Amino acid sequence: MSTAPFHAAPFDADRADLLSPEAVADPYPLLAALREHDPVHWSPRYRSWFLTRYDDVDAALRDVRFSSDRIAPYRRAKLDRPGADAGLRYAFGVLEEWMVFKDPPDHTRLRKLLSRGFTPRAVAGIRPRVEQLADELLDAATSSGAGTLDVVRDVAYPLTASVIAEMLGVPRRDQDDFKVWSDRITGLVFGGLADDGRHADGASGMAELTGYLADLVAAHEREPADDLLSALISARDEHDSLSHDEVVATGVLLLFAGHETTTNLIGSAVLALLRHPGQRALLDADPQRWSAAVEEVLRYDGPAKTVARVMAADVELRGRTLRRGDRVFLSPSAANRDPAVFEDPDTFDIGRRAGRQLGFGVGLHYCLGAPLARMEAAVAVPRVLARVPAQTVDEDRLRWAPVLLSRGMERLPVRLHPDP
Ligand code: HEM
Repeated sequence: MSTAPFHAAPFDADRADLLSPEAVADPYPLLAALREHDPVHWSPRYRSWFLTRYDDVDAALRDVRFSSDRIAPYRRAKLDRPGADAGLRYAFGVLEEWMVFKDPPDHTRLRKLLSRGFTPRAVAGIRPRVEQLADELLDAATSSGAGTLDVVRDVAYPLTASVIAEMLGVPRRDQDDFKVWSDRITGLVFGGLADDGRHADGASGMAELTGYLADLVAAHEREPADDLLSALISARDEHDSLSHDEVVATGVLLLFAGHETTTNLIGSAVLALLRHPGQRALLDADPQRWSAAVEEVLRYDGPAKTVARVMAADVELRGRTLRRGDRVFLSPSAANRDPAVFEDPDTFDIGRRAGRQLGFGVGLHYCLGAPLARMEAAVAVPRVLARVPAQTVDEDRLRWAPVLLSRGMERLPVRLHPDP
């Protein structure tokens, strides 16, 4: 990955664009320039602030003045008026129920209840099933004789979707529909609040998915099973429990949160290890180092490029004023390469001391699915690499998704045999 300065000429922050083709392919030079020259950056293009220094991102993620409640104000301003699209209003209403978009005390209540159903023990119990699913997908993808494997489309994407669908209790026969709906609502969540084209498709996907889940939740209410939906239905805290609609919205959140990001982590991990054969050799020699390797991928090229917040109060930072109502993007990808915290930050080194990367966020909203994501990556990535020889990335056909919030590939084609 390039470590060259972003511009030979003086850095022009006003022209910085994380969605330019160069920054989509490799955002790190631009993030480094922002971190160095304009750490509290106002983007006229996105009408938002961008924070890139580790200390600022870490502090803002823990600061409730940087509010997570960014859906409800948008819905009230744009959709609660005559003539507004009813499908969009409904879809944003579901998003509004997600705890990731709430502040305390609503967030505290939902997180407490969800944590009771979504435990590390539940994750540990499904590891053998994840191993089996990964082997099945790899067998199917490599037995076609095609000579190439798309790590994202053939393995990471179907694996992570099947895992969360099975955990929730979605019957196998419905899982293909489930994956398609998840894909469609991605446009709604990651497309940005102004992207109306993708919003329309996302909104109808949301209506179909919640309709399906509402029936499934009702069936689980009548007849509980040993799965996550039943655990959510029965999760109780003294006098409180999740309502039917909250269980449905949480099901959508888990499907969504558990799928896209983990796909991206698996893709980035395979890519980093194929591009760094020396690090791969360390893992071949000592498989105990796999969890350190996954942690280093989260730091070096993790899926959380930015995390969005809305200012709930005016805040002064490094001589600039972030005003109440302003939108802010906090960048874990930039923070995780801050030389003030990580020595030689642009080097991929599975031997570095772990523990401080911000790839799962930090504070109140720290990723609830981190144990699941780490386990899925630690299962899938070595299995993929066991089938792929060194230096076989098809760099010309690799495609990064042009998305502000997340870092991930749409395709990662690798050849199954080295060049003759
Ligand atoms: C929250 C990243 C996988 C469920 C978050 C946040 C980040 C994140 C950065 C904090 C968002 C914020 O502060 O606004 C990731 C990454 C993943 C991953 C990089 C994969 C590599 C998962 C999985 C699940 C999950 C597998 C569950 C199935 C959640 C939930 C929250 C969350 C429920 C909201 C927590 C809260 O608001 O209290 N994730 N995540 N994530 N994640 Fe993940």
